[in-house]
Amino acid sequence: MNKLFYGDNLEVLKKYIKDETVDLCYIDPPFHSNRNYHQIYNNIGKEDTAQTQAFLDTWTWDDHANIGLAEIQENYLGHFTTQAIDLINGLTKVLGKGSLLAYLINMTLRIAEIYRVLKSTGSFYLHCDPSASHYFKLILDAIFCSQGGDYKNEIIWKRTSAHSDANRFGKNADRILFYTKSNDFIFNQLYTPYEENYLLKNYKNKDKNGYYKSDDLTGAGATNGDSDIEWHGYKPSKRSRHWAIPTQPIINLVGIEKAKKLTTKEKLDLLLENDFILFTKNNTPRFKRYLDINKGNVLQELWTDINAISSQARERLGYPTQKPEALLERIINASSKENDIILDAFSGCGTSIAVAQRLNRKWIGIDINYQSISLILKRLEDSFGKEILDLIELNGIPSKFMVQPCDKIQIITVKDLIENQKRLDIRLSFEVLKSAEKQQQIKSNQMKLEIEV
Ligand SMILES: C[S@@+](CC[C@H](N)C(=O)[O-])C[C@H]1O[C@@H](n2cnc3c(N)ncnc32)[C@H](O)[C@@H]1O
Repeated sequence: MNKLFYGDNLEVLKKYIKDETVDLCYIDPPFHSNRNYHQIYNNIGKEDTAQTQAFLDTWTWDDHANIGLAEIQENYLGHFTTQAIDLINGLTKVLGKGSLLAYLINMTLRIAEIYRVLKSTGSFYLHCDPSASHYFKLILDAIFCSQGGDYKNEIIWKRTSAHSDANRFGKNADRILFYTKSNDFIFNQLYTPYEENYLLKNYKNKDKNGYYKSDDLTGAGATNGDSDIEWHGYKPSKRSRHWAIPTQPIINLVGIEKAKKLTTKEKLDLLLENDFILFTKNNTPRFKRYLDINKGNVLQELWTDINAISSQARERLGYPTQKPEALLERIINASSKENDIILDAFSGCGTSIAVAQRLNRKWIGIDINYQSISLILKRLEDSFGKEILDLIELNGIPSKFMVQPCDKIQIITVKDLIENQKRLDIRLSFEVLKSAEKQQQIKSNQMKLEIEV
């Protein structure tokens, strides 16, 4: 059954999610941008205890940070590798006990739990931005790679069109770090459609099997042994190269198990027999890469073709930092299959959950904000009908919050409040003041709020 938890993901993971039960985890946590988006969100006309605090992306060194640090240093429950402990000790020396370290400790505690709940074949995608991605790579290497896992990609997602940032290049891209728990994992190759210009330029040759382009069968750098055998008079190391034979056509011809056992010579002979090799004038063998018009280009790690959600988009729910469904569709399609369990421990308005549901995956969602939970339920009901609600196990949600699930979220910016002296419900006003205080750039006495009691 699908599960939706209202609460702090660290506690939920520890208490409710068993070891090695999740196939794919995607998280999109607050980014350590040290800003709070200047937004307070308000469930219009309904319950107004907007839990803005959890959404504020501002961090301070406090008791939580001290406890978290001790938990890692003392290797609480044995969840931390020596590398992770040494890394956090090192970062404590380098960064000092401040905002950034508090954020990284908070995330390390959660990532260690995510590692625990992932199946050995599981994959992990961490969505972040360049302000902390370099630290995340260290943390993920220390948790995943030190235990037999692997770093796969740093996906760069171009999230906005060009804009100018003062005195530097425009910052318009997020990072998504992709790791696996072992070397045995699911990866479904994805493709992007060919552009017409690309086709005309690259696939000029044609034979009885169709259009093809001539591609390398070797890679740069000389080696010896099997990847440097002489074949049809060609010895790669003489040109400072080694054999680098594409694996997919071999798998297509003989299947994955047999493909693993073939020597370089056997692979080359197989490709030649099946008309996948041509020889240039100077006798260099080249791979004939046939055009599969239905597939397109193999998807690379630079993603520029998925736009952020526009103000007019149908999927837009008004939740700050909502991600486009197309982004999650790509991740879920690449790293899972039907009926797999997808976990999103920072669910927001449930983009990953809605996509997982549509792609027939099972899912677990967690968020610390009740409006997020409420919005996820509404989103699922709108997309899949009322019956879907019976298939969800709700956990930790105070029933008074769930009487009327919210529809859309109204964003009120702190600036709006100051400029328009918006009238507010008293509880929301309190949240606004707390948030403004946290921002520090706006002093609370700058704000003239008219409070409705
Ligand atoms: C950047 S948003 C996620 C947006 C999401 N990807 C989407 O498309 O809607 C981060 C979410 O993490 C939640 N969050 C922050 N700290 C949390 C915690 N400790 N436990 C659970 N959820 C948390 C926030 O309430 C917020 O909804």
